[in-house]
Amino acid sequence: MAERRIGDVILEVKNISLSFGGVKALTDISFDVREHEIRAIIGPNGAGKSSMLNCINGVYTPQQGTITLRGQTFDHMNSRQVAEMGIARTFQNLALFKGMNVIDNIMSGRNLKMKTNLFQQAIRWGAAEREEAEHRAFVERIIDFLEIQAHRKTPVGRLPYGLQKRVDLGRALAMEPQVLLLD
Ligand SMILES: Nc1ncnc2c1ncn2[C@@H]1O[C@H](COP(=O)(O)OP(=O)(O)OP(=O)(O)O)[C@@H](O)[C@H]1O
Ligand SMILES: [Mg+2]
Repeated sequence: MAERRIGDVILEVKNISLSFGGVKALTDISFDVREHEIRAIIGPNGAGKSSMLNCINGVYTPQQGTITLRGQTFDHMNSRQVAEMGIARTFQNLALFKGMNVIDNIMSGRNLKMKTNLFQQAIRWGAAEREEAEHRAFVERIIDFLEIQAHRKTPVGRLPYGLQKRVDLGRALAMEPQVLLLD
């Protein structure tokens, strides 16, 4: 495998403060993440780790500070816009479709990548089918990588937490993100 050198800053978090009523969850937090770099945020229960990821991810809007991805600063973006910019995440409390199987949950991570919309699918079956097949092949590669082949057709709600966590990671990897946040 090619060596991956640490590159330029791709994500910059600057002076973030977030409070819920009187509870100060984050006070003036700054850090950055460079290309190919792995960064860890540590702290005891309630320290604000998940809240920090929720700010980056557009779930929470901090009262102060800025978040910049590849030079583009965003203040009030929702989770979908953040995902479109190339930031994916896993969730501490998992956010999977419990009744759907492993393949379909991971496929849901490919949604933003699907070019053909419903109308195109109706008039151009061939192209839509080819695209769908490509996405399914990509999902199968993730399933192999995570070693969950035996559970491909199992509804995720029936899997133990550790395996659900792997499916959650698979869904995030399916987005082929530039930045992957793991809670
Ligand atoms: N939606 C919310 N509404 C009110 N308070 C919140 C909310 N989310 C988090 N908090 C509070 O913000 C603080 C930080 O919580 P957070 O979940 O970010 O901590 P954490 O570091 O992820 O903890 P853990 O290790 O338990 O996952 C806590 O005091 C928590 O109660
Ligand atoms: Mg947390």
